Amino acid sequence: MTAPVRTRSSEDLIRAEEPVLAHNYHPLPVVVSRAEGVWVEDVEGRRYLDLLAGYSALNFGHRHPALIAAAHEQLDRLTLTSRAFHNDRLAEFAERLAGLVGLDMVLPMNTGAEAVESGIKVARKWAYDVKGVPADRATIVVAAENFHGRTTTIVGFSTDETARAGFGPFAPGFRIVPYNDLAALEAAVDETTAAVLIEPIQGEAGVIIPDEGYLTGVRELTRRTGCLFVADEIQSGLGRTGRTLAVDHESVVPDVLLLGKALGGGIVPVSAVVANRDVLGVLGPGEHGSTFGGNPLAAAVGTAVVDLLETGEFQRRAAELGAVLRDGLTGLVGKGVVGFRSRGLWAGVDVDPALGTGREVSARLMGEGVLVKDTHGSTIRLAPPLTITEDELLNALATLERVLARSV
Ligand SMILES: Cc1ncc(COP(=O)(O)O)c(C=O)c1O
Repeated sequence: MTAPVRTRSSEDLIRAEEPVLAHNYHPLPVVVSRAEGVWVEDVEGRRYLDLLAGYSALNFGHRHPALIAAAHEQLDRLTLTSRAFHNDRLAEFAERLAGLVGLDMVLPMNTGAEAVESGIKVARKWAYDVKGVPADRATIVVAAENFHGRTTTIVGFSTDETARAGFGPFAPGFRIVPYNDLAALEAAVDETTAAVLIEPIQGEAGVIIPDEGYLTGVRELTRRTGCLFVADEIQSGLGRTGRTLAVDHESVVPDVLLLGKALGGGIVPVSAVVANRDVLGVLGPGEHGSTFGGNPLAAAVGTAVVDLLETGEFQRRAAELGAVLRDGLTGLVGKGVVGFRSRGLWAGVDVDPALGTGREVSARLMGEGVLVKDTHGSTIRLAPPLTITEDELLNALATLERVLARSV
């Protein structure tokens, strides 16, 4: 990295945000001005290892050369057309993305929440047009502790009061059941059910991994009862867990896949609903859309992301280094860590509450040059870019050990 561009100090910039930015976040007090690979640099030139990776939007690291090259090339040619016209990048993106996950068709959107909203619309339309559910009666079964985004429909079926309180009234038509509980799911599904919508691993809840067989059970149940299995892989997908998708660990193919975050290569927001023709084919002209969805810049970057994933290298790295992460965390249990859950390069680490909240531990790690994010209570989440080296990962684990030892 070259020398930092000095403008205003971190302290000054943080203070300047207060009166002009909505206070809907409580960031750690670090002001990033540059980044490359797994490293970010603040305005004073201090370097930090990024173990959050933009909530998995940076699976390929910051400014991956192939992704930056694809973006530059496209920026110099064509950036936006809207879907009022065709653009010469979209067909390839859709073909390649659908091929990567073994489904037929793609509905391109931008943010994760939009993909979820779009998935809900597709499922309801399918329920009325194909399944024959009476008008306006469709239900969708979701899991407690879910996180699917921040729109009013989505927070309406959240079980997190902070996400919901003050934002009602909410859309009807959702049933909430405990996660990882097939019997509860079975009891909630009936002839009005359009879909079961779940995260194959619940990221924001603290990287909660369901029992082996749960995803297979959801697949079997949805097929048997005639409703759609919608898997929100916005955070768990695209290499994070050591496979292209988290559902691949049980060789399960959902009816509808929701993708986002890493699909935009850490450059532009790119999300997608991916499904077979018998499902996504229910949408006709005028029934859904997005000015920016499927724009040529997004399509070029998204295609370059598929190129990277097709090599298998990132999935392999996540699996191999995931074993290193698991071993390292196992060694920390009893040394400030009370438990953890991990799959691939993704872990929810429960720190002994006596040592501080997740936020406090994150702040101490920041002081030692490692950026992480707390989820709930005393849980921190580790999700480094999949490009991290073994040495960098071991160093981060050593830093965590040091920080937890000092906290005792
Ligand atoms: C599983 C899941 N779905 C949806 C979203 C929403 O994505 P976005 O913030 O891009 O709207 C997130 C974001 O964290 C997520 O983890």
